[in-house]
Parts: sequence; structure tokens; C-alpha cells
Amino acid sequence: MIKFKNLKLRTSFTLTMLIVYLMSLPVMVGITYQALLKNAEKESMGRAELLLNTMLGVRTYVGGTMRPVVDELSPDQKPIELTSGYYILREIADNIAETAKEYSFKFATLSPLNPANKANSLETEKINEFRSGRLSKEWKGFIKDSKGSFYAIMQSIKVEAGCLKCHGDPNIAPNEQKKIYGVNEGYNWKDGEIVGATTVYVPANVPIQNAKKALILFSIIYSVFFLLVIMVLDRLIIINIIRPIERLVVTADEISRGKMDKEFAVLANNEIKTLANAFTRMKLSLQKAMDILKK
Ligand code: HEC
Repeated sequence: MIKFKNLKLRTSFTLTMLIVYLMSLPVMVGITYQALLKNAEKESMGRAELLLNTMLGVRTYVGGTMRPVVDELSPDQKPIELTSGYYILREIADNIAETAKEYSFKFATLSPLNPANKANSLETEKINEFRSGRLSKEWKGFIKDSKGSFYAIMQSIKVEAGCLKCHGDPNIAPNEQKKIYGVNEGYNWKDGEIVGATTVYVPANVPIQNAKKALILFSIIYSVFFLLVIMVLDRLIIINIIRPIERLVVTADEISRGKMDKEFAVLANNEIKTLANAFTRMKLSLQKAMDILKK
């Protein structure tokens, strides 16, 4: 066990600074990484929100502008391809995924008409949290899977009375729909029930990697800075404390051997100067005492 009081001034100072460095490094790295991750999150969230809002904008257009026109043109025949916002958005999402592979949009659903909309295990977990009330309406965050890191936004999908003519009792559902999707899944939903989540994924590998790179750079700069501070402090201790003390020791040694012409000289005007002044007074008293003895 090292005892600080037995260490030389320089060693104990350097050791103290090293301990401060080692203790502060994890704290600084932790705080910085949180800030960098927040930045990466903001950047990813911006992209995810853009994709989500674009898709929801298309749905508003389909429901508000397109469907009434199609309904008027063919009142008896309402092709899903022209009237179902869910169908159209899934098709658009497929097209987007072809060019921007890591971007995806999905109406993740526990029991869907179209198997392509089936929720995966993470989506199922979040949908169940929406259902139990542990999450309210929206969840955002980073997720990781075999393909890398993604940023996801999930918004709960709630059934309304109007949905039940297609998703309620299969007996009253449109025949064309039953022909395409069968009657096994996507039915018997309840009014007010949460059945799924509108979900977008955007790639987050690059922003997370950038955050990690910036963190490494920060750690290097912090360490170099500390090393420089330790080196400068060491120099200052040598110049301002150790050298003057060594000079005082030499002078005191010489005076003790009778060389009374030697002076305690200190350039700086600090505590060591005060010590030197006290030594000088002591030397004068000694001289006087010796003069009296000689007489
Ligand atoms: C006119 C019939 C109809 C109505 C009304 C309707 N849907 Fe659908 N819905 C469909 C069809 C058809 C699909 C399958 C689209 C596809 O192939 O992706 C679907 C798909 C979905 C999906 C994706 C999961 C799945 O089943 O494939 C969700 C979620 C959904 N609908 C929710 C709703 C909600 C909520 C409402 C009411 C606000 C509603 N739907 C009203 C016909 C309808």
C-alpha cells in the first residue's frame, strides 16, 4: 500500500492528477456519449418522422380525395387497390423498400388480413404494451437486429366502429375481400381495441457509428489534455518549489559549515521567500550570538 505522506512532492502530485484523470474519464465519457447519442437520435427521428408523415399524407389523400371520387365513378364496385389506404400504403412502402432498402413502413398487426402485415416479435411486444396501457399511443427509439441498428417510431392503431364492416364479423365482410384474404385472420376486431401499430424504421448505423467515432476522438483529446496538464504542473512544481528549496538547502548547508557570507536568495515573492527571510533572520541572530561569544 502506497502512503502518500512518504512520497516525494512530484510523485504525489502526479499520482493525484492521474487518479483525478482515471476517475473523471468514465464520467466524462458517459456524459459525452449520452449527448452524442441524443444527437444521433434527433437526426434519425427527423428522417423517421418525415417518412411517417409522408405516408400518412398519402393516406389522408386516399381517404379524403381519392375514395369519394372512386365511389362515385363505380358505386357497386370498390376495388381495394383504389379505395383501401392500408392496401395502397403497403404497396407504396414496398416500392420505397426496393430503392431505399433499409427504410420501411408497416402496419404491423397481431392478426392481419394480409400476412405481409403480421407483427414480428418486437412489434408484437410493443403492440401488447399499447394494449395493456403500459405505452400510450406512441413509442420511439433505437432497435437492433441482425441487419443492424434502426430508429423506429410506432403509433398504436385503434379500431373504430366503421372498421367493423370489413374487420368485424367475417359474415358481413365484403366478398371480394374474403376471396383475396380468406376468413382466418383480420376479423372479429372490437370497437376501441388496439390491433396493431403504424411502424416506420430508418437505418441508424451511420449516426450511431459517428457518435462512437466522436466519442473516441473526445477520449483522446481529453487524455492528451490531462497529460499536458500533468506535465506542465510537474514543470511548475520543479521550477517554483523544488529548485528554490534545493537552493535553500545548499545555502543552509554552507552556512552551517561557517560560510557566513552566503545569502538565502529566492527570486519569487511567495511562501518560500518568507521561509528564506526567516532563515536570513536566523543567520543574523546566529552571527550576533557568535560575535558576542568571540568577545
Ligand atoms: C372496406 C373494407 C375495410 C375497412 C372499412 C377497413 N379496412 Fe382495414 N384493411 C382492409 C383490407 C382489404 C386490408 C388489407 C390490405 C393489404 O393487403 O395490405 C386492410 C388492412 C388493414 C390493416 C393492416 C393489417 C391487415 O389486416 O392486413 C390494418 C391495421 C387495418 N386494416 C386497420 C383498419 C382500421 C383501424 C380501420 C377503421 C378505421 C379499417 N382497417 C377499415 C379493409 C378494410
